[in-house]
Amino acid sequence: MSKMEVKTSLLDNMIGVGDMVLLEPLSEETFIGNLRKRFEHNEIYTYIGSVVISMNPYKSLPIYTADKVEEYRNRNFYELSPHIYALADEAYRSLRDQDKDQCILITGESGAGKTEASKLVMSYVAAVCGKGQEVNKVKEQLLQSNPVLEAFGNAKTVRNDNSSRFGKYMDIEFDFKGDPLGGVISNYLLEKSRVVKQPRGERNFHIFYQLLSGASEDTLKKLKLDRDFSKYNYLSLDSATVNGLDDAANFRTVRNAMQIVGFMEDEVQSVLELVAAVLKLGNIEFKPESRVNGFDESRVKDKNDLKEMCELLGIEQSVLERAFSYRTVEAKMEKVSTTLNVAQAYYARDALAKNLYSRLFSWLVTRINESIKAQTKSRKKVMGVLDIYGFEIFEDNSFEQFIINYCNEKLQQIFIELTLREEQEEYVREGIEWTNIEYFNNAVICDLIENNQNGILAMLDEECLRPGTVTDDTFLDKLNTVCAEHQHFESRLSKNSKFLTDHSLPHSCFRIQHYAGKVLYRVEGFVDKNNDLLYRDLSQAMYKANHSLMKLLFPEGNPAKVNLKRPPTAGSQFRASVGTLMKNLQTKNPNYIRCIKPNDKKACQVFTDSLVCHQVRYLGLMENVRVRRAGYAFRQAYEPCLERYKMLCKQTWPHWKGPARQGVEVLLKDLEVPEEEFAYGRSKIFIRNPRTLFFLEERRRQCLEDLATLIQKIYRGWKCRTHFLLLKKSQVVVAAWYRRYAQQQKYQKIKSSSIVVQSYIRGWKARKILRELKYQKRCKEAVTTIAAYWHGTQVRREYRKFFRANAGKKIYDFTIQKIMQKYFIGLKNTMPSMSPIDKTWPARPYLFLDGTHQELRRIFHLWRCKKYRSQFTEEKKAIYEEKLEASEIFKDKKALYPSSVGQPFKGDYLEINKNPKYQKLNSVMDEKVLLADVVNKINRANGKGASRIFLLTKKNFVLADQKTGQVKASVPLPDLNSVSVSTQSDGFFALKLKEGTPSAAKGDFLLSSDRLIEIITKLHRTGEASADRDPISVDISDEFLVQFKQDKVCVKFIQAGPKNGNSVACKRKNNRLLEVSVPSP
Ligand SMILES: Nc1ncnc2c1ncn2[C@@H]1O[C@H](COP(=O)(O)OP(=O)(O)OP(=O)(O)O)[C@@H](O)[C@H]1O
Ligand SMILES: [Mg+2]
Repeated sequence: MSKMEVKTSLLDNMIGVGDMVLLEPLSEETFIGNLRKRFEHNEIYTYIGSVVISMNPYKSLPIYTADKVEEYRNRNFYELSPHIYALADEAYRSLRDQDKDQCILITGESGAGKTEASKLVMSYVAAVCGKGQEVNKVKEQLLQSNPVLEAFGNAKTVRNDNSSRFGKYMDIEFDFKGDPLGGVISNYLLEKSRVVKQPRGERNFHIFYQLLSGASEDTLKKLKLDRDFSKYNYLSLDSATVNGLDDAANFRTVRNAMQIVGFMEDEVQSVLELVAAVLKLGNIEFKPESRVNGFDESRVKDKNDLKEMCELLGIEQSVLERAFSYRTVEAKMEKVSTTLNVAQAYYARDALAKNLYSRLFSWLVTRINESIKAQTKSRKKVMGVLDIYGFEIFEDNSFEQFIINYCNEKLQQIFIELTLREEQEEYVREGIEWTNIEYFNNAVICDLIENNQNGILAMLDEECLRPGTVTDDTFLDKLNTVCAEHQHFESRLSKNSKFLTDHSLPHSCFRIQHYAGKVLYRVEGFVDKNNDLLYRDLSQAMYKANHSLMKLLFPEGNPAKVNLKRPPTAGSQFRASVGTLMKNLQTKNPNYIRCIKPNDKKACQVFTDSLVCHQVRYLGLMENVRVRRAGYAFRQAYEPCLERYKMLCKQTWPHWKGPARQGVEVLLKDLEVPEEEFAYGRSKIFIRNPRTLFFLEERRRQCLEDLATLIQKIYRGWKCRTHFLLLKKSQVVVAAWYRRYAQQQKYQKIKSSSIVVQSYIRGWKARKILRELKYQKRCKEAVTTIAAYWHGTQVRREYRKFFRANAGKKIYDFTIQKIMQKYFIGLKNTMPSMSPIDKTWPARPYLFLDGTHQELRRIFHLWRCKKYRSQFTEEKKAIYEEKLEASEIFKDKKALYPSSVGQPFKGDYLEINKNPKYQKLNSVMDEKVLLADVVNKINRANGKGASRIFLLTKKNFVLADQKTGQVKASVPLPDLNSVSVSTQSDGFFALKLKEGTPSAAKGDFLLSSDRLIEIITKLHRTGEASADRDPISVDISDEFLVQFKQDKVCVKFIQAGPKNGNSVACKRKNNRLLEVSVPSP
């Protein structure tokens, strides 16, 4: 075991107590109470020292897994909680490592779990022992022998659905390494009566049902079988199918297992044929046939089954038929043949069936042994597993129960012997004084049964061999005489008066006080069953069969080997085999598994106290505990003991340096355990009383609590401290990071500030330098300039004499002059025409000449006009002057004006001087006539015009008759006050005279002329020309007053409508108004 592995113990986490030896106080109640408590917690295994008590859980528990196998592998027996694996491991290891042959004795009543336990042990050993192709094959064969034997040897009973109906002992052989080599199976007394008859609620052996349900049609046909169970007398029908049991599937398993184990195909076939033959045999029925001698003779009723059976086995039908009707008795040299009656025939048939089947079963075991036999001759280590039917007490107990119980009695004895012996040996080995132990030894019961002289079996044999009438009753009588005194034998008719009145004891019965309880046996059938007779005719018939296996099973039928000696009785055979078994077991190291069944209902979680109590009693478990505790209840090697309790003493805790024994001594002394409570063996400490152990355990528990607290304390301290340290460390890290961050920030700030400051300083410095440099540059420039000037001055001073002064100005002037010249020449060439109305003017070439250019244009125009004017003659000039004056007076004021512009002012239209008509007028007109024309003088009264000649001189104007030329009126111009005209295109004009003048007496003149503009203009010019008077004012208005004699008449000009025609019409409207309608232009 590695150092780090946690040391556990059986004592840890116990439910109840794991080892009954530690039960305190010890009584049947506490014992059963402990079993119950553990059972209720699914703890089905409990120890009594090294004995394992196994309770049948009747349900599958998860405690047989591969993990569990690993858990129990190579661990000490008491190290883990009780388990069948611990026992298997202990046995296997002591076989492998200490070279001790082992036997595992599994006992218990039917249904207690013996077969399951044996399989668990085998599977555990198979799992932990060596591996390899060859080894695995052997393992597989050993394991697969189980299903085959179970099929043929197990049956459903009221107690167990898979009850073993035979005893089985299997030796598994190992080589020196612990690898399995092979095995040997011994079988004991198959319950063959089951073949022909099954108690109510039970079944025949599984194989019959498996064959009928699982075999193929083809096989069944070959075997001449029918699938229907009800067709066979030997098969009980009421429980032909069992819940949770799949016969068909199991048949396949069995065939497969047979194949693995090594059965040949023809062997399997032969076996099945025999099974079929048994079924057929059961169907053969007999009828009586009266004979002349008055006796009935049996005859086969329906020969069909007989025929089929004979065909199947190759038996001559007549031979078998005869064997069922006659019996040949051979005595010395004589052969006597007697007929069989029907009852005898049935007896013979059943005997044949039973024998056939039980021999077949024995052959199967032999055949399996052949296969699983170890191949080497070298020395082998052996582990025997005994799975035998348990102690049975039925209502009706017969020969079988007697035999079975005898076997159990023997087993109990060997158990006691070996346990005690082992105990004693251990004491001796350990050097502890052996104190005698009080216990019940069942040797006396064994003696009652097997004693050669007066044992019950010997009596039975004697009876069977005795000539004369032998019945079960004579046998009982014999017992009554021989065994009457025996304290474990009870019978009504014995000499022991005690039972004379015991009504629970019928007359045909005897009772034996077995170690496990009293059992009442009914003597009926004892003799027969012990004889186990099979008529020779039948065995010979069987031998004659043309069937090799059949021949093999009935060797006594061989006529060549006629043996007149009686075969050994069943009882003596059994006694012999049990004797051998016991001898065998005694040479081996025993390991016990005591199976207990918790209830009769095959139910899980049900614990029937009385039933368990009964089993505890007959298994002698209390005895077992007592024996174990008789001296010292508990023992443990020094090392594990010290390891477990060392914390109870300061010297041994935490480490003990010296030998473990001394450590334990120091420990016990320190704990002040009374000296008589323990003894020091060579390798073990022996503790007398469980109380001491529990005291130690209690102290250990307390101490563990303290230690746990201490560990907890230290752990908590450690945890807190590490946590604290971690926090501290983290804090430092956080602080470091924070500081770093803060410093970084600060640094960044300082850095940026210093950069700012730096940049300012640099800027300031740079500016300073710049200023300096600029200043220097300016200085340089100044110097350069000064120098340049200076040089210039110098140069000029030096070179003046070589250059003309003011050349620049001159050049400038010259240039300007040149430009002007060019300008003027250009202007000359592009001069516009001389026409005053020509508006064109060349474009200006230079901006600076803008003013000049405009001015020149104006001058040019004036000059052009002047030139134009200068071409005019005086007359033309006067005409133009007049025209100019006319425009000044009338332009834009009178509508008539525009039409006058184009007409030259001729002045004298009448050519007065030349026309003789107007001689008279000429005389009047001493002066030059400025204007002479005909006008219309408007009549004041009606507005009608009368033609008059109008003459104008420098001094006056004259109105004269057109025809006569007679002067009508001559008015000096100074008397003319003003002239009024309309704005319109008419030619009306009023010459208004100054009031008070002589001319004014006749009133103003209202005239009309087409040449109004010329007339008025010339009138106006006369005024301008004379210096003594004002120029005549011209009023232009559409309404004006005209002085007619005394009255002032208003002349009003209106626009004429279109119907008035194109002529101007003048009408006197009233005294005051003269209306002139002027056509619109
Ligand atoms: N350890 C176990 N776990 C689960 N079930 C079990 C266990 N042991 C026994 N059983 C159940 O109990 C039934 C009977 O067990 P088993 O056949 O081993 O009894 P037995 O002691 O061999 O009886 P018999 O003496 O009649 O042969 C089994 O078929 C199984 O159902
Ligand atoms: Mg069994």
